[in-house]
Amino acid sequence: MTTEQTTSRTSLAVVLAAGEGTRMKSPRPKVLHEIGGRSLIAHALAAVTADGGGVAVVVGPGQDAVVAAAEAFAPGAAFYVQNERRGTAHAVLAARAALAPDDVPDDVVVAFADTPLVTPETVKRLRAALASGAAVAVLGFRPRDPSGYGRLIVDGNGALVAIREERDATAAERAVTLCNSGLMAFAGRTALAILERIGDDNAKREFYLTDAVAVARAMGLAAVTLETSEDEVRGVNTQAQLAEAEAVLQGRLRARAHAEGVTMVAPEHVHLCADTCLGRGVVIEPYVVFGPGVTVEDDVVIRAFCHLEGAHVGRGARVGPYARLRPGAVLEGDVHVGNFVEVKAARLAPGVKANHLAYIGDARVGAGTNIGAGTITCNYDGYRKHLTEIGAGTFVGSNSTLVAPIRIGERAYVAAGSVVTAEVPADAVAFGRSRQVNKDGFASRLRALLKSGRT
Ligand code: UD1
Ligand code: MG
Repeated sequence: MTTEQTTSRTSLAVVLAAGEGTRMKSPRPKVLHEIGGRSLIAHALAAVTADGGGVAVVVGPGQDAVVAAAEAFAPGAAFYVQNERRGTAHAVLAARAALAPDDVPDDVVVAFADTPLVTPETVKRLRAALASGAAVAVLGFRPRDPSGYGRLIVDGNGALVAIREERDATAAERAVTLCNSGLMAFAGRTALAILERIGDDNAKREFYLTDAVAVARAMGLAAVTLETSEDEVRGVNTQAQLAEAEAVLQGRLRARAHAEGVTMVAPEHVHLCADTCLGRGVVIEPYVVFGPGVTVEDDVVIRAFCHLEGAHVGRGARVGPYARLRPGAVLEGDVHVGNFVEVKAARLAPGVKANHLAYIGDARVGAGTNIGAGTITCNYDGYRKHLTEIGAGTFVGSNSTLVAPIRIGERAYVAAGSVVTAEVPADAVAFGRSRQVNKDGFASRLRALLKSGRT
């Protein structure tokens, strides 16, 4: 079967997310922990929705935060609550309404929300495996340490006959190295019949989804298996596993950036997000962190120790070292933002330079304007944020305090050290500081006084 035929089939993905995740030792639900700036459940959803199709998410009671996160990422998803945690097959059956015979999808993919590294290609391969006529397709892998995983039991002809959970397995079965990743696909027309026949006759008295294989065989249906790498199906149950999954994802994101023409001087010291978008010819020095929502156009240089989040960087811009771009920062072409400069909710038009020690928040800065070292937009009065507007071709002298709301016209000058509280018209020079007074000869008198100790 070709890819086109596969994708034209209707598909439903059931993502299982019920559970406490207590081994994370964190107040956050397990599947809301993040790698690459995206929650685990969002990664799982991304993999299963890449080809379209419906999505059903199974959550535990009261997991509103999980529902909200999943809904934000997959707006069309349907949610089902598994009131008691009685096993993975029981969890899938919580979404029974989505499998009802009147509108049954051609195939049903079951994925775990705590398994974030599965790729859309693998989901596609699994669905395609059903084309042979099999009722169940199981994704297997060969972990370095198989303990804890279900084992895939094959017969003399290599056909999959059962999956045995470790605690129910014989010594011979435990010696099997091919393990169950948890990702499975079912032919829609028989999925419900198989799931309903699964019992809880096992060590944990749970309804195991893995028993679907033996049940299908007993019904005269076939089960098939395909394999993938351990890295793709790493599950996350602990903080250490979360960090391992992050490392695998970072490796993939860096490889993608390299393939798209990005130069990273020390790629292992660049932290990317799943949605980081980098243009061609971008150069990234070491120790740069991208949070979510960053796009960078071509030919940008991001120097060492920068932190960017929710920001857009225009073509040819120079950022850093030690710059911070916060959400809503938009640097247009050829903008220079240098060391210890923070930009938030501000648009810097082409050619703006803010090279040292500045805070530009809630602002619009016109083309070619120079923002001197130590310039601060005072955007917040403790209750509300206020706008600073600076025209094109303006020169804001060092250590200026711009008290918003404020407008500074085009081609104006703000004298260094000014506190600007009133509008500066175009072409004006604003002196917002006290006049300097020199007292001739006072220095030597002052020294004598200080030395005498009479002060
Ligand atoms: C499961 C598989 C095992 C496989 C392993 C891969 C079963 C019975 N075992 O074991 O063969 O090798 O994954 O990581 O399927 N969940 C619910 N409701 C429940 C139980 C689980 O929603 O009642 C969800 C969990 O949130 C989780 C997923 O299903 O996302 C897997 O559950 P978990 O308890 O982690 O199963 P494992 O013991 O790891
Ligand atoms: Mg697990």
